Amino acid sequence: MLPWLKEGKFPLYLAPMAGFTDLAYRQLCKDEGADVLITEFAMSDSINRDIPEAWALTEFHESQRPMGIQIFGATPESMAKAAHRIEERCRPDFIDLNFGCPSEKVTCQMAGASLLKTPRELTRIAAEVVKEVKSIPVTAKIRTGWDEENIVADQLVPMLQDVGIQALTIHGRTKVQGYSGEPDWDLIKSIAASTSLPIIGNGNIRNSAQVHEIMTQSNVSGVMIGRAALGYPWLFREIKTHLETGHTPPPPTLQHRWKTILDYAHQLASRPENAHFEGKIMWMRSKIVKLTKDMHGSKNLRLELNQTETLDQLHEISKQHLERYSHADVVIQERFRRR
Ligand SMILES: Cc1cc2nc3c(=O)[nH]c(=O)nc-3n(C[C@H](O)[C@H](O)[C@H](O)COP(=O)(O)O)c2cc1C
Repeated sequence: MLPWLKEGKFPLYLAPMAGFTDLAYRQLCKDEGADVLITEFAMSDSINRDIPEAWALTEFHESQRPMGIQIFGATPESMAKAAHRIEERCRPDFIDLNFGCPSEKVTCQMAGASLLKTPRELTRIAAEVVKEVKSIPVTAKIRTGWDEENIVADQLVPMLQDVGIQALTIHGRTKVQGYSGEPDWDLIKSIAASTSLPIIGNGNIRNSAQVHEIMTQSNVSGVMIGRAALGYPWLFREIKTHLETGHTPPPPTLQHRWKTILDYAHQLASRPENAHFEGKIMWMRSKIVKLTKDMHGSKNLRLELNQTETLDQLHEISKQHLERYSHADVVIQERFRRR
């Protein structure tokens, strides 16, 4: 049994989200209570060809453990070789196999979610990886199936367990659903009830009440939180506090949010792989904008941020925003405290 899934634990995973859950963002979530982190997916062929950008995705800090490195690919040979190289070089706590990505760029290579169409081929990949990776566990992440007529999650569970996969994340949507529509939590729960393989449930988790219900009313072993944690890393703290005490802590102050945003932007800018941007921050706008979700005047703020080119300009925007809205924020915090 993976140590973070032992009896009595109910870990909150931060979902891997390519383009957003970079090293710095994962740290933010860890600091706010995320228990298990997984890197954005790296293509096995790129790892095997030593493409620096692919290896950059595998980086993590010791303080972020337990840490999984996720890969995707189309063949057992490529996936097994990449997994073994990552095991040797990075020593993560586990390797996670992506069998759920719906992006055309991935499915046209017969990787990611396209493997849901061929459960035996998917399992063959998992088996080869498990055989090659000797010192750490291998886990996998799937969707329920390709489409509603072809649900395969229930069939895949024993197949993956047989070849040595040690935990399985099920995103409760089909490939065809993409990221919209309701995830099928009934299916996730019924699968979890029928297997000894630890199942991590994923899909549309937005608050502590949902997590409490899943934790207390099902055999699901943990949950993975995706988009609700994008821009709001404080969600992990809110859920944990609520699960432990029954109370939701106050939201972060506006000042705290801006400090987080500015620290994050500086960390991104100072990464060696971003040195070629020479201090310009246009490339990180979408990541920064996410962190302003639901802030006062967020629509105008978004427009402003989408014109921002330098860190100095970002500091100026934060100063003006704080001047304009600090008072309103104090009122909200006060109201929260009196609740
Ligand atoms: C922008 C974006 C990038 C994603 N990248 C990955 C990825 O690299 N690997 C992966 O397994 N899933 C990826 N996902 C899927 C998420 O991990 C998660 O399964 C999905 O968003 C459903 O969870 P949610 O409803 O809580 O957002 C991505 C999702 C989004 C929105």
